[in-house]
Amino acid sequence: MAEKLHIIPHQHAISCEDRERQNGHRGHVLWFTGLSGSGKSTVASVVERELHERGIRTYILDGDNVRTGLNSDLGFSAESREENIRRIAHVSGLMKDAGLVVLSAFVSPYQKDRDFVREVAGSAFSEVFVSTPLEVCEQRDVKGLYAKARAGEISNFTGISAPFEAPEKAELDVPTHEMSIEAAAKKVVDYILPKIAL
Ligand code: ADX
Repeated sequence: MAEKLHIIPHQHAISCEDRERQNGHRGHVLWFTGLSGSGKSTVASVVERELHERGIRTYILDGDNVRTGLNSDLGFSAESREENIRRIAHVSGLMKDAGLVVLSAFVSPYQKDRDFVREVAGSAFSEVFVSTPLEVCEQRDVKGLYAKARAGEISNFTGISAPFEAPEKAELDVPTHEMSIEAAAKKVVDYILPKIAL
């Protein structure tokens, strides 16, 4: 820890505002939270395509992808999830400073971890709660993980043997069991466009 005393951050010549002017829009972190199978990545993917077609610079980060690389050393205990989200919070924040609209799709079941992301990202942060209930996610069971969790083959599975704390202050609620993926994506796009306009 003492080594940290000798780290002096460099002041870069190009600011976030410079990059945003060049891109023609602001950066933002759109944080999708919800149970496994709720539709986070699916909605994020349609939102990204819509934004991309409008010339907006985007990037998607999601649990299943980041966990095969940067976070391949982490499991699903509360401590590992906290570390997973801590790293992604910083990666999302850096990408936002690079001027991108970052679509981060993580179960992120703990309120305190999501509050940390909000803190790191600053004002350009919005939480999107993909609020599809457990019964629906379990019925869909796209990856077959709920069946394995019920059979005791996966421990600490969110919604079955580990908690999910529903967001208290999400900017958007996207119930994919009550609306189509297209309608859900439109809700997010309609929300974000004015936020990122210069
Ligand atoms: S988080 O809780 O740390 O935010 P993250 O979004 O990175 O989770 O990864 C969740 C994905 O990992 C799920 O969509 C699912 O495919 C897979 N997974 C594997 N084991 C678990 C588990 N025990 N709980 C939840 N998801 C799991």
